[in-house]
Amino acid sequence: MSQLLVKGGCRLTGEVTVQGAKNSVLPILAATLLTGSPVMLRGCPHLRDVDASIRILQGLGCRAVWEQDGLAVDTAGLEGCSISDSLMREMRSSAIFLGAILARCGRAELSYPGGCELGPRPIDLHLAGLRDLGAEIDDTGGHLRCRAVRLRGADLVLSLPSVGATENLMLAACGAEGITTISNAAREPEIIDLQAFLNACGGCVSGAGTSTVTIRGGRPLHGCTYTVMPDRIVAATYLCAAASAGGRIFLRGAREAHLATVTALLREAGCTVASDAAGIGCTCEGRLRAVRPVRTAPYPGFPTDAQAVLMAALLRSRGTTVFEENMFASRYRHVDELIRMGADIRVSGRTAVVSGTERLYGAPVRCTDLRGGAALCVAALAAEGESRITEISHIDRGYECLERDLAALGAEIVRAETDESEG
Ligand code: EPZ
Repeated sequence: MSQLLVKGGCRLTGEVTVQGAKNSVLPILAATLLTGSPVMLRGCPHLRDVDASIRILQGLGCRAVWEQDGLAVDTAGLEGCSISDSLMREMRSSAIFLGAILARCGRAELSYPGGCELGPRPIDLHLAGLRDLGAEIDDTGGHLRCRAVRLRGADLVLSLPSVGATENLMLAACGAEGITTISNAAREPEIIDLQAFLNACGGCVSGAGTSTVTIRGGRPLHGCTYTVMPDRIVAATYLCAAASAGGRIFLRGAREAHLATVTALLREAGCTVASDAAGIGCTCEGRLRAVRPVRTAPYPGFPTDAQAVLMAALLRSRGTTVFEENMFASRYRHVDELIRMGADIRVSGRTAVVSGTERLYGAPVRCTDLRGGAALCVAALAAEGESRITEISHIDRGYECLERDLAALGAEIVRAETDESEG
């Protein structure tokens, strides 16, 4: 069992390069199924979720191997159209493969991805859009059996700007004859990255980043070499780590335009944030101030994935900050662990009220989910004494090596292996 040992009190200084974006590379890996030619993904992060996607591609008969330049994928050998239940359970977002498998094979079988630590994760919008494109889907008994003799372009309207549904339908639409429009589409930067990848493969996709994405389908797609965008949530995490511990850091490759709502609140809290084409610099001295209410929302609103790490950065601020989590039903599971470190947080439904305290104390805490686990590290940097953070496999789903990057910035953080008995 791995754990992270963090000794608080060290200011962060120096520079790190931000890894490639998990939430961009996962749909791009699904998109490689649309072309039977080799793809090289540069800047692909080494993550547990990427490993799970590699296993899905290999399970479908495709080749996906790490090479010097990045992750080399070749789906020419595709021979299956189903994803095993165990693989679906390993990564909730595996549903993103559905549209691409359907477009390539005309049929697809996978089990319902089910919920995750954040609460229910329905895919009704994905399925409704695929049916509008002409797919026949039997979703009884916890399994999805999909057939599409021919996908036809259609005008799709999402009842809410779902990131995964937008991406799934973009991929399916690439295999549909004619034009597809997706209205009320998600506008996240990762959608723009997916569009850029599809067009680099010879696709004809436009509008990503706006509420209407247009796809001209039925075009054969070729391979390409593509560099994945930087991970804006990892960048937000490191900025919040500097805000929590104090110091002066530079995040090479980070793009402030992707996380403007986060940097605006860090400035309001008293950090000095300056960015240019090379990255984002952040200087945080002294005690932070509480900020205006933080309401999570679809992009360009405040990202739900940064809620936990910003909360952790504000635990010792002067005053009270109100958080409102509007995207997922159960995204405050890190709160009880933060309270063990001396935080003053009161949760009522979707609202969490954070009252800044003078001090935090190192404590044994456990990760409840990916971003909640990162938040424990952010808080531990500001705590007096040592924190022992367990169940860090959650963190490894989305951070290539959190302790390597934080240590490079001066944090006292190490990964330790313990036998099972220590828990
Ligand atoms: C993506 O999840 C991200 N994951 C999440 O990041 C992120 O929190 C989320 O978008 C919101 O930004 C990946 O990209 C792999 P949604 P996704 O569909 O696509 C509801 C992380 O920490 N909904 O935009 O699953 C849904 O229940 C992860 O990196 C439906 O009701 O998010 C949720 O309440 C966590 N029906 C809301 O929409 C549907 O068919 C937003 O979900 C689909 C979604």
